[in-house]
Amino acid sequence: MDGRQRFWSARVREIVPYVPGEQPRIPNLVKLNTNENPYPPSPLVVERITAAAQQGLQLYPDPQSTALREAIAHHHRLDAREVFCGNGSDEVLAHAFFAFFQQPHPVLMPDVTYSFYRVYCGLYGIEADLIPVDEGLQIDVAAFADRPAGGVVIANPNAPTGSALPLVAIEQLLRSQRDCVVLVDEAYVDFGAPSAIPLIPKYDNLLVVHTLSKSRSLAGLRVGFAAGQRHLIEALERVKDSFNSYPLDRLALAGAVAAYEDHEHFERKRQAVIESREALTVQLWRLGFEVLPSAANFVFVRHPAHDAQSLASGLRERGILVRHFKQRRIEQYLRISIGTAAQCEALVQALALLIGV
Ligand SMILES: Cc1ncc(COP(=O)(O)O)c(C=O)c1O
Repeated sequence: MDGRQRFWSARVREIVPYVPGEQPRIPNLVKLNTNENPYPPSPLVVERITAAAQQGLQLYPDPQSTALREAIAHHHRLDAREVFCGNGSDEVLAHAFFAFFQQPHPVLMPDVTYSFYRVYCGLYGIEADLIPVDEGLQIDVAAFADRPAGGVVIANPNAPTGSALPLVAIEQLLRSQRDCVVLVDEAYVDFGAPSAIPLIPKYDNLLVVHTLSKSRSLAGLRVGFAAGQRHLIEALERVKDSFNSYPLDRLALAGAVAAYEDHEHFERKRQAVIESREALTVQLWRLGFEVLPSAANFVFVRHPAHDAQSLASGLRERGILVRHFKQRRIEQYLRISIGTAAQCEALVQALALLIGV
């Protein structure tokens, strides 16, 4: 064993950690690689964070995130006791995997999806059963039925494809797996997919996870939440209070509540991203790209005549970052986050040069 690793536990030696998209500090970079919102958050968010920084930082924050749970519950017509908040949805997902998926049976997930799900499985020693997406990279919910499952996790819209399932398909999934928790990760839902939150009263096994990192422009604040019936939320609270009682600091709580108060800002920026996505899709078609229909703040594209990794490197040399996954089935695709109009234009110009049109 490598001398440096001799203090590591067996689990730490085995795990394969998630690799986040690059966050380089290069000036004037066109950063389209981590699905952040290209627009800043509401000015009300900044105002409230500033005010929160000026009072009470010597005190711990509210361990129950009460004001934020109430704001989220109000927005989604839930009871605050049906909401659980965490330090980014990644933390909420990690707690959910720990709380619900440590079963004798594997957790079912699409073979092409958010790669962090498999990382949590590795961390907690949970077996994963990867259900192939179809030829068009769409999730086939029928393939999840009648399989022994200790849990199910899907992203809707899926990542990195951007493809969305209709609610009938989500219900089909929920009905086919009544005896385990079905986790629907709706990180990108505000950009064009239907949310499963209204199904919560009907299904005691449904947990929906959201983030404020994408449609509310708060990736830097680290806030996410889960919504589900009270018994599921209670399980998450038990995990949280066995790990870190104060996952959200005072600044994050103040900023996140304000993000729900400024509904107009949210609507305007969300629409701007959707419009840019549609405009970019047309421009990419003109360059000969295949673009999967996207309900997210990114597009997943490939060019029949140009290697995806070479395109990503060519863009990088021109100061534009996009995401390329060296993963079977999707190695010829690029995931491109939707930027401002100017960023999208810079991307299209650089791609036109690279592919020579
Ligand atoms: C599908 C999916 N779920 C969850 C997350 C994590 O978001 P957060 O910033 O809330 O941890 C991401 C981030 O890119 C994502 O793509």
